[in-house]
Amino acid sequence: MAPFILSFTRISRPGPFAEKQPQSMMFPPPCFTVDQCHANERYVQQLEEVFSTSVPNRIASFFAEPIQVSTAKHANSSNSVSIGAGGTVQYPKNFLKEAYKLVREKGGVCIADEVQTGFGRTGSHFWGFQAHDVVPDIVTMAKGIANGFPMGAVVTSEEIARSFAKGLHFNTFGGNPLACSIGSAVLDTIKEERIQENCAVVGTHLLKELAKLRDKYEILGDVRGKGLHIGVEMVTDKASRDPLPPEAMTQIMEDTKDMGVLIGKGGIYGQTFRIQPPMCITTEDADFFVTVFDQALHNYTERR
Ligand SMILES: Cc1ncc(COP(=O)(O)O)c(C=O)c1O
Repeated sequence: MAPFILSFTRISRPGPFAEKQPQSMMFPPPCFTVDQCHANERYVQQLEEVFSTSVPNRIASFFAEPIQVSTAKHANSSNSVSIGAGGTVQYPKNFLKEAYKLVREKGGVCIADEVQTGFGRTGSHFWGFQAHDVVPDIVTMAKGIANGFPMGAVVTSEEIARSFAKGLHFNTFGGNPLACSIGSAVLDTIKEERIQENCAVVGTHLLKELAKLRDKYEILGDVRGKGLHIGVEMVTDKASRDPLPPEAMTQIMEDTKDMGVLIGKGGIYGQTFRIQPPMCITTEDADFFVTVFDQALHNYTERR
């Protein structure tokens, strides 16, 4: 069986209202309480506050992953706003649409970071931003673009691309023919082997199976994500939703590894397991992971 490999792990944190998000399996998540239904309003309000208090009147850009996994660090500059708090956090319905509108009102361009969500991983769409009904001005992509071969790409409008001609830009590795032919082969394979559809089918199955574990274990606080882009948030108990401490996370992760599956973690407290396996895995592979993860959770609960 192909191991479940995570491309990278960073400690990052969910947005301030993420805890109020419902236990969701699909995006957009339904809202179960009044508080959760207000999440979008509160996120937008917070963004407006950032615009009025923390950045210049005109901003350069807004950088956001369609599902947040990474950190903001790589995108920050003094007049650029970044959303990238991590923990596999999904935005409330319409947030990105409203955020893009506010950014454009401030003169900024909207950048979708598709490094992790792109190339069909979320199942329903080839690009993560499509699920939000927005059209970015710039899209950045990497990782899945060449199935691990070092490659990245930026796609933008002609107008923005023209502005690059004002200065000299070059990259030693830019346009590398080997990388380009690998990227092209990967695109063919995604299409021919219906990899995006596989992400939807196997990912939905995996989300459903993980949701059963959520109902079984007190320490499994939330299962969320889309396709094969899944976060499992671990808590000390479901009432407090306090993050499961790092030692406990490590024990479960190591146990899972010893039984043959690699997973990663993220979120500011490192409390969210990141399940982003190769996009070609089968339902049987997913079931193997669920059995292993179930065992690791059981072992931890017994030891406690
Ligand atoms: C979502 C996301 N965006 C951006 C980056 C940064 O990519 P790079 O390390 O190639 O600058 C990463 C890298 O891990 C990522 O996961």
